[in-house]
Amino acid sequence: YRGLTMAEDGMLKISDVRCDYLVKKYGTPLYVMNEEEILERIRDIKQNHILKYNGVAAYASKAFLNKEMCRIIKREGLWLDVVSGGELYTAKSVDFPMENVIFHGNNKTYEELSMAVEYGVGRIVIDNFNEIDILEDILKENKKTIDVQIRVTPGIDGHTHEFIRTGQVDSKFGFPMHDESALYAVKRILNSEGLNLRGVHAHIGSQLHQNNIYRLEVEILAKFVGDIKNLFGYEIDEINCGGGFGIFYNEEDKRLPISFFTDVIHEAVDEFFNKYNLKKPTVFIEPGRWIVGEAGVTLYKVGAIKDIKGVRKYVSVDGGMTDNIRTALYSAKYTAVVANKLNIDDKEVVTICGKCCESGDILIRDISLPKLEKGDILAVLSTGAYNYSMASNYNRIPRPPVVIVNNGKDRLIVKRETYDDILRNDI
Ligand code: LLP
Repeated sequence: YRGLTMAEDGMLKISDVRCDYLVKKYGTPLYVMNEEEILERIRDIKQNHILKYNGVAAYASKAFLNKEMCRIIKREGLWLDVVSGGELYTAKSVDFPMENVIFHGNNKTYEELSMAVEYGVGRIVIDNFNEIDILEDILKENKKTIDVQIRVTPGIDGHTHEFIRTGQVDSKFGFPMHDESALYAVKRILNSEGLNLRGVHAHIGSQLHQNNIYRLEVEILAKFVGDIKNLFGYEIDEINCGGGFGIFYNEEDKRLPISFFTDVIHEAVDEFFNKYNLKKPTVFIEPGRWIVGEAGVTLYKVGAIKDIKGVRKYVSVDGGMTDNIRTALYSAKYTAVVANKLNIDDKEVVTICGKCCESGDILIRDISLPKLEKGDILAVLSTGAYNYSMASNYNRIPRPPVVIVNNGKDRLIVKRETYDDILRNDI
């Protein structure tokens, strides 16, 4: 991991900030985000997609969003992909340039779409016919127009967990392509006064480690753009390949540079847009996990230890499925280290569990770690994406704070919730 080092006494440092210092200052559980890593990855995207190919990259904010993350994306000049009024409102709160916002979702409400039109977002990605109806009403009333992309379901099966697959035919997202739905939607958009059709969009899944399925995706989208041109005489100038670029969680995963994906995408665009006699489009990508996932470390303190002789040794930490639902939900596999015992080689196999009142509240099953004792600091790695953003108050547990570290400095960006926060909306 970039930016993870060991101090002389065996203590883990993240971007040169000691973990015992962070734990003392902010308590546990604690989300730590390494800003150096985030910026390095954004730089990789700029070099290998934006500058090299004139592409657009929108950060998929569902992976990790708060005001400071929004400011970072704004400062770095990336676009922002939002999927709800709440994410959109967060962007607005830091004056994110609305022309660089893409609004997604399979059931955007009238209120959310009105908000998007009022703010003047750059693109709305149309997912279904209901949205065309709602948007036409809103735009007629406001005498406005808006640029849209149309989301289709290309029928590609990304090899990833069932719950994060989105490209296959049987999906709640996008217009099906195996019948006339997608072309009929295009016809309706083209006939609409307020809707300005700019692009076609697909997203085939998440945490993907193959690049050939992006090639397949581009081929299908190019053919679709060609069909639209032939049928309606209208040439689309943007394709959006979505996100899904995989990261490293454990030895089963590779750590891949963004060029592994973007080179294949752009080669395929050249090949297939040429084949169908189309002009080269602007290519959008929407990475979420790839930008923030490996930048995150969650720190916990070890509490109760239960050794069930001959069966399993459970080591409990002071967080769990409330700050990281991914193991329970997707059987995700994480790696962890004992932050205060990096220099100890002697290891034993344990299971790390959380403090929630539920047997499924396991963070890591069977991991080999130095012998854990009460008070040790456990650092779970690659927790930057879909951990904080999917956190809950199950068991009325307050959500942990988020701290950013960068080159020896730390700054709090989200405060720890208090018991009063938990009661705030109760009547
Ligand atoms: N664009 C669209 C249209 C999406 O639906 C998604 C993710 C992304 C981009 C970003 O995907 P990424 O680059 O982060 O893989 N909660 C799940 C992941 C759900 C992803 C949903 N859509 C998890 O924790 O694995």
